[in-house]
Amino acid sequence: MSSNQLDQKSQAWSALFSEPVSELVQRYTASVGFDQRLWRADIQGSLAHAEMLHAQGVLSADDWEVIQRGMAQITQDIEAGRFEWRLDLEDVHLNIEARLTQLVGDAGKRLHTGRSRNDQVATDVRLWLRGEMDGLIELLRQLQLALVDLADQHAEVIMPGFTHLQVAQPVSFGHHMLAYVEMFARDAERLTDARQRTNRLPLGAAALAGTSYPLDRERVARTLGMVDEQGQACVCQNSLDAVSDRDFAIEFTAAATLCMVHISRLSEELILWMSQNFGFIRLADRFTTGSSIMPQKKNPDVPELARGKTGRVVGHLMGLITLMKGQPLAYNKDNQEDKEPLFDTVDTLRDTLRIFVDMAGGITVNAEAMRQAALKGHATATDLADHLVKKGMPFRDAHEVVAHAVRSASERGLDLAQLPLAELQAFDARIGPEVFEVLSLEGSLATRQTLGGTAPRQVRAQVARHRSRLV
Ligand code: ARG
Repeated sequence: MSSNQLDQKSQAWSALFSEPVSELVQRYTASVGFDQRLWRADIQGSLAHAEMLHAQGVLSADDWEVIQRGMAQITQDIEAGRFEWRLDLEDVHLNIEARLTQLVGDAGKRLHTGRSRNDQVATDVRLWLRGEMDGLIELLRQLQLALVDLADQHAEVIMPGFTHLQVAQPVSFGHHMLAYVEMFARDAERLTDARQRTNRLPLGAAALAGTSYPLDRERVARTLGMVDEQGQACVCQNSLDAVSDRDFAIEFTAAATLCMVHISRLSEELILWMSQNFGFIRLADRFTTGSSIMPQKKNPDVPELARGKTGRVVGHLMGLITLMKGQPLAYNKDNQEDKEPLFDTVDTLRDTLRIFVDMAGGITVNAEAMRQAALKGHATATDLADHLVKKGMPFRDAHEVVAHAVRSASERGLDLAQLPLAELQAFDARIGPEVFEVLSLEGSLATRQTLGGTAPRQVRAQVARHRSRLV
């Protein structure tokens, strides 16, 4: 292939074709509009491949030298926004290779020895995703720390805990925040785990069958940092699988989806809590917006959008799974469609996490409103039943006695704790004046000392555990 032929991709597979693709087909098949964001990974992968070809004696020292120089020039041009991306060169790979050849001549054309765009693109996506995963894992760490700080400040603040969105038992607001810390910790674990399977090298698989050149795939893997914890090179072990599967991208998107689902649940609570009917929290003004018609409004747009954007990430997961299903081995052009959902998943999750790190720090807690809400709905009824059990009553009987007491209090518009002692004693003579401590919110919390329970002492123990884990 002569260099002016490579200039015109419509002629790049040249001799076999009697006419160029139509303009519509060119636009339909091109990916450079979106895959150019892989450029850094593409150059990194090409340099590792060329270095190995040189070490194996396939590429001369001069060729290796000028390839490095050409790639340095291209890097500068792209960073400076000077690089001309050409649609007729289809994708990021052909754009960079054509420019390299323009800059350094034949050495540029030798770069592709023993390589195909099939193993090239699979390598690029893995390298790029690995870097993004590291950024997301760090953001998850920051979000956990912000929530741990909130939990620390508000370990003693009491709010109603809900089941079925009905007042159930009092809990510490700090404890409630730590529930989300657990979720985000698992999200980070999942990303860390998926990263290991992402960080494996497809290069060397060539188009699908491997290649006749004496490639050292492990050397390339080590150059690219594709190594396990013991420093062993991580190389995809089957060429057909290496170029065709995108399960690492699906796995990542599944982990991202779960993380967004957790964000969405938190968002839903923030939205409820800042409504006038709850009044539990305020968000800093920079996360809320006004209404164009109702002057009194402060709307929780950020959590609402996060809840909404969860839907689009779920959609990307469905898209990627469906993309893979039904593809025969090995590479098919279908796989070009992996990029936009994957990119958008990363962008959406990254921006959402960044905003939430900042937003968590800007939450103001209205402890009195939480307390008043916890005083409604007989939140300590279970405590009274437990109290009777400690005095010798079987739990089922105690449950029944307290149900009668709750009913009588409700009929009079009172909370259980507001009934006079004499009336409580009418339900069971064993009830003494210490019952009011039992029925108090603080008394209830203090007894929940099981590991992982809501007693402030347990909450503080968890805060300490998280802090030492998250340094
Ligand atoms: N742009 C393509 C993709 O993203 C690169 C691989 C093209 N390979 C091929 N045999 N057409 O999948």
